[in-house]
Amino acid sequence: MSDFIPGDLLEPLSAAADVEMWDGGGHVPQATLVEKLAGCIGWLSMLSDTIDARLLDAAPDLEVISQMSVGVDNIVVSACRDRGVIVGHTPDVLTETTADTAFALMAAAVRRLPEAEAMVRSGAWVPWDPWHFLSGDLHGSTIGIVGMGRIGQAIARRARGFEMPVLYTSRSGKEVPGAEGVDLDELLRRSDVVVVAAPLNDETRGMIGQSQLALMKETAYLINIARGPLVDTAALVEALAEGSIGGAALDVTDPEPLPPDHPLLDFPNCLVVPHIGSATVPARRAMARMAVANLVAYLRGEPMPGWLPGSAPQRPGSPP
Ligand code: DGY
Repeated sequence: MSDFIPGDLLEPLSAAADVEMWDGGGHVPQATLVEKLAGCIGWLSMLSDTIDARLLDAAPDLEVISQMSVGVDNIVVSACRDRGVIVGHTPDVLTETTADTAFALMAAAVRRLPEAEAMVRSGAWVPWDPWHFLSGDLHGSTIGIVGMGRIGQAIARRARGFEMPVLYTSRSGKEVPGAEGVDLDELLRRSDVVVVAAPLNDETRGMIGQSQLALMKETAYLINIARGPLVDTAALVEALAEGSIGGAALDVTDPEPLPPDHPLLDFPNCLVVPHIGSATVPARRAMARMAVANLVAYLRGEPMPGWLPGSAPQRPGSPP
């Protein structure tokens, strides 16, 4: 286990297997991880682990990995499949929380809350003035959701309450009632708020680059709640410096963590938070519970609730 899991959530696994948990604070050092994995059949991993052929070859007894996140871009899934390693993750249980975060970021960015708060703290708050600190409106503005998976759909549901016309792109071409599927260029041209909610993979890496940012309205905001490398950071810095977009709000960045002297942090209209999209107590407990349940199911020869398609198949007899 690469990180701490609270005892009450761990209990079903402790009852089924000998468990060793990294509890040294922070993330387990790589050398310790490699040493501990040798001889383990199961691993509860975190998205901060790099799970590639090299690591898997150093852990030849490994049969199952259960990662405590929905995103699996840190895992070379084909390398797991080639070695017969089954992978589980934690979809669904963090969907609504992450969609809440997208709305928190959108509202904060569009209504300029970080700038307003900084002004109050700096002592520059002046008596109420009808023309002071104006912004655009979030309600009624057009939202473009890049990636209409579970989280994208949860964002779309919330957008209806804000009376926001919803545009979206979807790789699978799915129909979403009350929302308009368009291509990425059209979405970027027409949206007042662009929310990136796509998984990170070879096709999507850098999908929002210089030419995509150039299509956005001068007043539009870019929100990223998915993975930092979906957006070309240098291009975003350039767009913010030129004022060619209204601003950005980022739960995820490339790199992560962002160094304190990074140029993105120089822009008052760029809000950055440290990958906390699903960081609520209920969501994190649900993620830990599901990560444990995946391992317990594997040990019992039952289907894993969060089996990752593309990894090794579930055990014989389990549904695909
Ligand atoms: C995930 O589960 O992939 C999230 O990024 C964690 O917040």
